[in-house]
Amino acid sequence: MTNKTLAAPQELRYARIHGLAGYRPERVVTNDEVIEFIDSSDEWIQQRSGIVTRHIAAPEESVIDMAEAASRDAITKSGVAPEQIGAVIMATVTHPYQTPAAAPELAFRLGIPDPAALDISAACAGYCYGISMANDMVRAGTVDYVLVIGVEKLSDFTDKYDRGTAFIFGDGAGAAVVGISDFQGIGPTLWGSLGDKRDLITQREPWTGLRGGMEESGRQDALDWPAFVMQGQSVFRWAVYDMVPVAVKAVEAAGITPHDLDAFVPHQANMRITDAMVKALKLPEHVPVARDIAETGNTSAASVPLAMARMLDEGEAPHGGLALQIAFGAGLVYAAQVVVMP
Ligand SMILES: CC(C)(COP(=O)(O)OP(=O)(O)OC[C@H]1O[C@@H](n2cnc3c(N)ncnc32)[C@H](O)[C@@H]1OP(=O)(O)O)[C@@H](O)C(=O)NCCC(=O)NCCS
Repeated sequence: MTNKTLAAPQELRYARIHGLAGYRPERVVTNDEVIEFIDSSDEWIQQRSGIVTRHIAAPEESVIDMAEAASRDAITKSGVAPEQIGAVIMATVTHPYQTPAAAPELAFRLGIPDPAALDISAACAGYCYGISMANDMVRAGTVDYVLVIGVEKLSDFTDKYDRGTAFIFGDGAGAAVVGISDFQGIGPTLWGSLGDKRDLITQREPWTGLRGGMEESGRQDALDWPAFVMQGQSVFRWAVYDMVPVAVKAVEAAGITPHDLDAFVPHQANMRITDAMVKALKLPEHVPVARDIAETGNTSAASVPLAMARMLDEGEAPHGGLALQIAFGAGLVYAAQVVVMP
């Protein structure tokens, strides 16, 4: 073993979210449009999922385009200059290139010079994973500011003929600037994964084993790349029963009680999951609950920042207040933390 001691930061710093913003594509798709391709009804979709509309990106609009729109807004709101940002973490499972990652191109477009830039694949939990990683990077002194984005173009990976998923997903982006602070604005993260449950939400087949949805289904307009498939009921039960204790522990770990919360921002997976969590958590009545799913659908990694940005923009949650955020999805993976809203 060497007798040299490597340089290391001597003190932990504080981190918080300085700016947060969302972007929803222009086109709004109603349930009536969705049910042109599946045996369903507007009433069933609203009752079973709470979804009334979702936003769908234009064919040429990419995850990088959507991430750029949300990031520009978040950076402006944060008051941080692009040059101060030392890392870009982009959470997405719908960037169509395995490599290169989307984050370096996004950083280049935003004029962030030479940051560490990477994509992470943690599905619907990706943004909350990113916030945790950004917090640690800032706390430890690796960088001063990190741009964290959750973005998805799920419409590219949704089989419009699949009753189990066609109505659920939407497109969008949310971005946050995490950076040094004079108080701690991000609580400890409770996170984990259950790899034995990999089949509950997955791509139908690997990129390298394409049978071709088009050929298989015989439909001219079917996807010819792998769509996402989901065992909805099992995911639903897991989310309701197993995520509540995680949420409770995240609040305890932050050193607060549910009465201290100013907002509850769960992953916008299904309105009934949110309702069940609120009940099981015995959330105090004064705590507003994010219900962005009604208009935005389930946007996976983008859902938590989109929902929180809406609550702040509409005055439903107070700037500087405490929010419990929790997200869960394919992997299975999950993450929860209490944050001070920017
Ligand atoms: C997908 C989801 C809305 C389906 O709701 P559900 O209540 O579990 O529905 P089920 O699969 O149990 O089906 C119930 C009935 O509705 C029918 N049904 C299923 N999909 C339907 C649709 N799109 N339209 C109309 N009826 C449908 C089923 O055939 C079944 O009928 P039956 O009772 O006559 O057999 C729900 O399971 C869910 O939201 N799961 C979690 C999804 C999620 O969070 N995913 C992302 C995690 S990140």
